[in-house]
Amino acid sequence: MAAFTSEKPNDKDAFLNHWRKIRSDNASGMKTIILDESIIAGYVLSYQDLDLGQLEVAYWIGKDYWGRGVATRALAEFLNNFQKTRPIFARVAKDNLGSFRVLQKCNFKVVGEGKGFANARGKEVEEFVLKLEK
Ligand SMILES: CC(C)(COP(=O)(O)OP(=O)(O)OC[C@H]1O[C@@H](n2cnc3c(N)ncnc32)[C@H](O)[C@@H]1OP(=O)(O)O)[C@@H](O)C(=O)NCCC(=O)NCCS
Repeated sequence: MAAFTSEKPNDKDAFLNHWRKIRSDNASGMKTIILDESIIAGYVLSYQDLDLGQLEVAYWIGKDYWGRGVATRALAEFLNNFQKTRPIFARVAKDNLGSFRVLQKCNFKVVGEGKGFANARGKEVEEFVLKLEK
């Protein structure tokens, strides 16, 4: 579903290095999503896109927990209680309907479109750029 993934998704060292980098970035904020008080279900984070100079959100839910409203609840709580900087942006591949819906339910509006090479698809894909103003 997610298009803009790492180049080598099975490379654990690359994964850990990437997360080390994100976690040492003070401008980022991140939260682990804990379900039923003890189950780690995923994460929500924000980061400064250095190319575009804007704050963006990203999230990932473990497949076992899809379709239960977890992403919507987690993103809403993240934006209401933790990351309150506005505007804040999100980018989503046009064919990632689930993620697009999560953003819509959290009041993000489409403000643009783009294209980028997506490792997960092995080709260039089209994306929507969405913005949460307030
Ligand atoms: C996309 C993702 C975050 C959705 O998480 P989730 O917890 O299942 O989402 P929710 O249960 O909160 O669903 C929110 C809405 O999206 C819809 N939805 C969820 N997955 C969907 C899918 N695959 N296709 C169509 N609609 C979908 C739900 O029906 C719901 O809409 P509704 O309330 O109108 O019925 C999850 O599938 C995921 O982590 N995918 C892999 C990583 C990814 O794509 N991250 C985002 C990159 S931009």
